[in-house]
Amino acid sequence: MTRTDIVGLKENRDPSKRLRLPIRNDTGQHVGDLRCIDRSMLDEPGLIEDLTTWRNQSMAFFLTQFTATEERTRSWLENISLPAADRILFVICDPRGNRFGNFGVCNIRPGAAEFDNVIRGRASDTRNLMFHCGMTLLEWMFSGLEIETAELQVFSHNEKAIGLYRRLGFAAAESLPLRRTEEMDMVKYSVVDRSQANAGFDYLKMELPAERFRQSHLGALPTSSSAYRTG
Ligand SMILES: CC(C)(COP(=O)(O)OP(=O)(O)OC[C@H]1O[C@@H](n2cnc3c(N)ncnc32)[C@H](O)[C@@H]1OP(=O)(O)O)[C@@H](O)C(=O)NCCC(=O)NCCS
Repeated sequence: MTRTDIVGLKENRDPSKRLRLPIRNDTGQHVGDLRCIDRSMLDEPGLIEDLTTWRNQSMAFFLTQFTATEERTRSWLENISLPAADRILFVICDPRGNRFGNFGVCNIRPGAAEFDNVIRGRASDTRNLMFHCGMTLLEWMFSGLEIETAELQVFSHNEKAIGLYRRLGFAAAESLPLRRTEEMDMVKYSVVDRSQANAGFDYLKMELPAERFRQSHLGALPTSSSAYRTG
C-alpha cells in the first residue's frame, strides 16, 4: 500500500521541510539531491525558466508536443502537478543547488508507479548523473512508496532513454502502436489499434520488479523510509 502523503509533501510552504533524496555515485559520494518541487519552490529564481527550456529542448520525446512557455509551466505546476495525489516531480541539483534536469514519478497507485518527465537539462561534472538519479528514485519508489513494480513508457526509437532504463534494470514488457494527430498548436501521439497506427514507432512499456532491483543492486534499499530527509 502507498502510505506516503504525496499532496502533503508538495503543498509544503515551509522551505525547512522540503523532501530531498540524496543522489550518490558508485562510491557512495553525495553528488547532489533530487529536490521535490513543492509550493515553497515555485518562486525560486530560474526554476520555471529551466523547466520550460528543458521541456522545449526535449519536446520530441513526449506524447504531447507543444511550445512550452513559463506561464504554461507555472499553470501546469499550480493546477495539475502540485494538487495531484498520484504524481511528484523532482529537480536534479548538485550540492550547491545548481539545476541539471528533472525526474518525476506518475501514476502512483498501490503496488506500482511510473517514471515520468525524465529530462537531462544540461551537462554536469558528475559522470552518469541520470543513472544515479534513476537509482535514487527507484530506491525511494520501492522503499518509500513501497511499490512492487516500477514502470515507464518510452518511444521505441528513443535509444538514449532506453539505454538508461536498461542500465537501471528495466526490461521491455509490451510495444504499443501509436497514432500521430495535430490539434491547433499541438501534436499528440495516442495508443491505438495496430491498424490505425501511423507514427512509424511504438510506445514501449518497460518494467522493473522490486525483486529484480534488490537482486541486481544488493544493499541499495534502505530498510525504512526514514532514510529520506526533509529540509
Ligand atoms: C534520456 C536521457 C535522460 C538520458 O540521459 P543520459 O543518461 O545522460 O544519457 P545520454 O546518452 O543522453 O548522455 C550521455 C552524455 O551526454 C551528456 N549529456 C546528455 N544530455 C545532455 C544535455 N542536455 N546537455 C549537456 N550534456 C548532455 C552527458 O555528459 C552524458 O554523460 P554523463 O552522464 O556521463 O554526464 C537524456 O538523453 C534526455 O534528457 N533526453 C531527452 C528527454 C528524453 O528523451 N526523456 C525520456 C523520455 S521517456
